[in-house]
Amino acid sequence: MRVFAHRGYSGLYPENTMLAFDKAREAGCKAMELDVHLSKDGHLVIIHDEMLDRTTNAKGLVCSYALSELQTFNAGTAEEFQPIPTLETYCKWAKEHGIFTNIEIKTNLIYYPFIEDKVLAMLKKYGLVEHSLISSFNHGSVIRMRQLSPEIQCAFLVGGRGLANVGSYAKNFKVEYYHPDGAFLTKAAVDECKAQGVGLNVWTIDDLGLLQKMITWNVDGVFTNHCAPVLALVGE
Ligand code: G3P
Ligand code: CA
Repeated sequence: MRVFAHRGYSGLYPENTMLAFDKAREAGCKAMELDVHLSKDGHLVIIHDEMLDRTTNAKGLVCSYALSELQTFNAGTAEEFQPIPTLETYCKWAKEHGIFTNIEIKTNLIYYPFIEDKVLAMLKKYGLVEHSLISSFNHGSVIRMRQLSPEIQCAFLVGGRGLANVGSYAKNFKVEYYHPDGAFLTKAAVDECKAQGVGLNVWTIDDLGLLQKMITWNVDGVFTNHCAPVLALVGE
């Protein structure tokens, strides 16, 4: 089972920072999950929310600032400054360390035109297409990525109780994975995906009882904020 460090080792370190990614790698995680938005001047930046307020010392929309301004903001702690990483900085690091990455394109609340094209171009630049998996709650972004690249792996992200016949839905769009919320996932949905040849990576699994259920159901991967205990139970 693949263990994705969700926003890096975000249970212990500031989420979506290079510190959190590198700490997850040091703990033994070979796969990361991260979230991307576009800056005002069109650069890919790694941050979860559309707004800066929750995870940095700045305020306002990410897309209202140029990259040069975003890079002055602190996504770390009062004790240790961490910049908002660019996807390019991350890709250099992932290439160096042989890391597999789930890039979540955050277009569910704000749509950034051509963000899918920019993500794909960045992955091609660093030879990471085969080592990446693209997901989004905005299935239009996933379908656009599928149209841009027949080879990159894609996933439909769905919150809450999920979708009926989601395996069949994903297969129809040639999307390889379903990313459901583990709190609501049912064995019937797992079985329907497997029958359609669609894989499952489940978020966000921090509870070891829920993890044990995912192991029993033989899902392909889990996302966790707490890499070490999850890796220990999965047996990596
Ligand atoms: O991709 C799984 C998970 O990251 C989706 O939810 O809100 O943590 O981005 P969120
Ligand atoms: Ca995410």
